[in-house]
Amino acid sequence: MEIRPETPPDIAAVRQVNMAAFQRENEANLVDRLRGGTATFALVAVQSQQIVGHICFSPVSILGEQGENLLLLGLAPIAVLPEYQRQGIGTLLIQHGLKACVEFGCQAVVVLGDPQYYMRFGFIPAIQKGLKCQYDVPEEAFMILELVGGALTGGSGTIQYRPEFMNV
Ligand SMILES: CC(C)(COP(=O)(O)OP(=O)(O)OC[C@H]1O[C@@H](n2cnc3c(N)ncnc32)[C@H](O)[C@@H]1OP(=O)(O)O)[C@@H](O)C(=O)NCCC(=O)NCCS
Repeated sequence: MEIRPETPPDIAAVRQVNMAAFQRENEANLVDRLRGGTATFALVAVQSQQIVGHICFSPVSILGEQGENLLLLGLAPIAVLPEYQRQGIGTLLIQHGLKACVEFGCQAVVVLGDPQYYMRFGFIPAIQKGLKCQYDVPEEAFMILELVGGALTGGSGTIQYRPEFMNV
């Protein structure tokens, strides 16, 4: 299993992975819209030369108080081909993705999803850091991981995703 940055020849396969994992086109379209944006990057999981997983990160902003030069990224979406799920590929994508976020100079990552799944990577409810999601979602489903200790201290507000996320 190889985890590496997404490259242009991967685009069609990445679309297939997202459509198969989510069983609809919305997330695949979102990935296509996000691609090439500022501070946006994606990794793929490759097995036997086939792309079986994909993860994307894009910048989010805090509406409210925000420290100077704070770079926050949103993890979304992540997808693994159904027949390859529950084999640790999602875990590898997240672990490599978070490492890439650190190298990118990002101070914290937010994610909207199942708390049981993301807790294992160290994500905690964002509300504990005074941050809410712009979307009307269960409080515990919106999580944050500080990559630089104390980066979020004193901050509060509402996290805004890129406009490309609208209507997903
Ligand atoms: C979520 C997803 C990327 C996880 O990938 P994966 O390769 O199956 O994950 P892993 O093998 O690393 O981890 C599997 C573990 O996560 C749990 N898990 C997997 N998908 C989950 C989900 N959607 N919600 C909650 N837990 C999930 C499993 O219970 C399993 O736990 P266990 O090992 O204790 O049994 C994959 O299931 C997927 O593509 N789902 C459809 C798309 C989706 O919902 N994406 C997330 C929202 S953006």
